[in-house]
Amino acid sequence: MASEQVTERRPLSRMEDLVSLCARRGYIFPSSEIYGGINGFWDYGPLGTELKNNLKAFWWQRVVRERADVEGIDTAIIAHPRTWEASGHVEHFSDPMVDCRKCKRRFRADHTDVPCPEAPAKRQVAECELTDPRSFNLMLTTRVGASEDAASVAYLRAETCQPIFNDFKRIRESARQKIPFGIAQIGKAFRNEINPRNFTFRSREFEQAEMEFFCHPSEREHWFEHWRQQRLHFHECLGFGTDVLRTRAHDADELAHYCKNAVDVEYAFPFGWQEIEGIHDRGDWDLSRHSSFSGKDLSVTDETTKERYTPMVIETSVGVDRTTLALLANSYSEEVLANGESRVVLGLPAHVAPVKAAVLPLSKKLAEPSHALENSLRRQFNVFYDDAGNIGRRYRRQDEAGTPFCITYDFESPDDGRVTVRERDSMAQERIPIDAVVGYLRERIEAPI
Ligand code: GAP
Repeated sequence: MASEQVTERRPLSRMEDLVSLCARRGYIFPSSEIYGGINGFWDYGPLGTELKNNLKAFWWQRVVRERADVEGIDTAIIAHPRTWEASGHVEHFSDPMVDCRKCKRRFRADHTDVPCPEAPAKRQVAECELTDPRSFNLMLTTRVGASEDAASVAYLRAETCQPIFNDFKRIRESARQKIPFGIAQIGKAFRNEINPRNFTFRSREFEQAEMEFFCHPSEREHWFEHWRQQRLHFHECLGFGTDVLRTRAHDADELAHYCKNAVDVEYAFPFGWQEIEGIHDRGDWDLSRHSSFSGKDLSVTDETTKERYTPMVIETSVGVDRTTLALLANSYSEEVLANGESRVVLGLPAHVAPVKAAVLPLSKKLAEPSHALENSLRRQFNVFYDDAGNIGRRYRRQDEAGTPFCITYDFESPDDGRVTVRERDSMAQERIPIDAVVGYLRERIEAPI
């Protein structure tokens, strides 16, 4: 239809537009909103949860299921506190912070190039009356058990990989894996960030999907490059083009204390190029430290050469929330149509889109056969049923929710056994037999290889 042609397309330029869509559609919104929110914590509504779950399932599929040399695990959030002494977090995991003597607010010493919250139009934080930088440990603590003494203090994990190192020996032996092999997990991590900002980008509670690959010291460069390529391809499969995706190698003075080599995967957010994933050569730092702190030998023996060595670790560590945010930012656009109307559309890749298809009866009188179609699809896909409002308005709602296909059941459908399928991005419509709908969707929502 000529009226549905796009005459102008504007990608996301202001984060506020995405934040507002996410709240409006129930993707992501502040945690404890009725109490005014809590800084650095976010809740995912029905669409956001489906999107994040699809992303995690895609990662799990690519990193764990498709590989015989990676095992997936799920560890406790709270580990023995010695874990975090061994990892170096108790000693080193801190950011420099400064306090403003006037307003008493606290800032990261390297993030003072932002407007002063007291007088945003007048000055930057850097121009305020600041104290000298002090070290601020980013780990969140809690207490375990009834006693209140120092021995009861425990840490909420600051990264999901440390329990993987704790479990290395158990997993290698129980899964009968030989070096080289990897252990992966997805889960929550917690950091008491001084200035959470940019929506979910820097949160205090977030999810990581991490994979630690254990290899012989002579193979570390090979596996680093292997995983760099694998991970870059993963992000390409999420629809990120070369204009918004790049890798950036760390300079020597940027490397974390445990790191021999690191490459960031960066996405071009409206607030600049930012890291969404890190690929790190952690050397034998973790296994050696946990060996010495626990007293358990975590080295291995090469069965052929009988060489005894501590494996090197190549890590891939992606932020699930940051990648979800990149997916939302990348897919958001505002379009002007030839008939002068406009629409907001989330062009999410179909394989991660929260709802794959919406079933839209043209009239409430067609409810019975439309529900029958909905229920038959529900067994295989996440679908949505909407019979409220005119069909144009219903299409727009699905465009904004990122639903790739709308299936309209009309007055001819009972007679000719066909429905109209409308594709979100092109808005092209075609009429197909009802019994071909499952195959039609299946073909179009498969993840790229
Ligand atoms: N185990 C290595 C590690 O944790 P990292 O670079 O500190 O490395 C890895 O974190 C990923 O975790 C980052 O690329 C980012 O996507 C995510 N991440 C880190 N801090 C975050 C925060 N405060 N909020 C949201 N995501 C965060």
